[in-house]
Amino acid sequence: MQKRKVKVGIVGLGRLGYQHAENLSFRIPFCELTAVCSINEKEVKKAQENLEVPYGYTDYDEMLTNKELDAIFIASPSGFHCEQIIKALREGFHVFSEKPLGLYIEETQKVEKVVMEHPDQTFMLGFMRRYDRSYALAKKKIEEGAIGQPTLIRCYGIDPTKQLDGFIKFATKNYSGGLFLDMSIHDFDLARWYLSAEAKEVWAVGGSYSRTEFNELNDAETGAAMIRFDNQAIGIFVAGRNCAHGYHVETEIIGTKGTLRIGTVPESDQIVLFNDNGVINECFDGFISRFEQAYLSEVEEFVNCIIEGRQPAVSVRDGVESTKIGYACKESFENGQLVHVQN
Ligand code: NAI
Repeated sequence: MQKRKVKVGIVGLGRLGYQHAENLSFRIPFCELTAVCSINEKEVKKAQENLEVPYGYTDYDEMLTNKELDAIFIASPSGFHCEQIIKALREGFHVFSEKPLGLYIEETQKVEKVVMEHPDQTFMLGFMRRYDRSYALAKKKIEEGAIGQPTLIRCYGIDPTKQLDGFIKFATKNYSGGLFLDMSIHDFDLARWYLSAEAKEVWAVGGSYSRTEFNELNDAETGAAMIRFDNQAIGIFVAGRNCAHGYHVETEIIGTKGTLRIGTVPESDQIVLFNDNGVINECFDGFISRFEQAYLSEVEEFVNCIIEGRQPAVSVRDGVESTKIGYACKESFENGQLVHVQN
C-alpha cells in the first residue's frame, strides 16, 4: 500500500478544472497537486501562485515527462479526453478524466482497450453524480427494494439562462458533442446504473426557441429523448440550456412499488422567503454549487483507489456505453428517426 502522498498533475484549469485543482490542493488527505497544465499561460501562473503548485506547463506532453507525478487529472475540453487519457496511461500514470469519455464511439472503444491493457493503473471517469449523497442514497434504496422493480426514469438537466451567452460564445469556437452528449451524459449513466439495463432504442427531438444561434450550430437549445432499455424499462430525458430559475437537475425513478425523486425543486439552501411576490426558494446557479460535495467525494475516491491499488465502481465501460447513448440521441435528433443504440 502506498504511504506517501499521491502526486497529481492536472490539465485544464477552466470552470471545472480550477475547482478540481483547489480540491486536489487543499481538501484531499494524502494528495498533493504537484503540476498544473493549460494552453493558457495566465491560468497556469494563477494556479501555481494561488495553490502553491511547483510545476506549471503549457504543453501536456511536457507534463507527462515529469516522473515525480503518480496521476494525471484531465479537465480539458471534451475533444481532448481520449488522446490525453491514452498518452497518460501509456506513460504509466493513474488517470482521472472528466466526462464524457469521448465524443465518438470508436475513440472511446480505443480508450477502453488501453485501460484494459493497464490493469494496475487506476482509471476513473468523472460521473460524479454517483458520489452525490442523494443520488447514492437513491441507489441504495433501489437495491433495498424500496420502489420494487424500476420501470421508468425521468431526468431533467437544464443549464441556467444566465450561462446562455457564454455557452453560445464557447460553442461557436469549440465542439462539445451537442446537447445530448454534453448535457445528458450524466443522466444516461444514472439511468443505466439505476435500471441495471442497457439502452436499446432512442428517439430524440429538439429545437432552438429563444436563440436562433443553435440552428446555425446544428444543435438544440432544448431537447428531449425517449429511450427503451433492454429490460423494457423506459427513459425520458430532458436537456436544455435555458432554465430561467437556475441550474435544474432533477431525477425521478418510478418502480413497481414506489417512486423516488431527487432534486424536485433545485433549491440552493433551506431558506424560504415569503413576501409580496409570494413564496420563494432560491435555486442553484450552476453545477459547482449543486455538486460541490460530489466533486470532492469523487476525487477522494480516485486518490483512495490509487492508495489501495484498486479500481473505482465507475468503469471505462460506463463511459463507452453512455457515449453510445449520447451519440444515438444526436443521430436521432439530426435525422428525425428512431435509432438503435450500437451494441
Ligand atoms: P473550460 O473551457 O472552462 O476549460 C477548459 C480548460 O482547458 C481551460 O483551462 C483551457 O485553457 C484548457 N485547455 C484547452 N485546450 C487545452 C489543451 N489542448 N491542452 C491543455 N489545456 C487545454 O471547460 P470546462 O467547462 O471546465 O469543462 C472541461 C471539461 O469538464 C469538459 O470536458 C466538460 O465536459 C467537463 N465538465 C464536466 C462537468 C461535470 O459535471 N462533471 C461540468 C462541467 C464541465
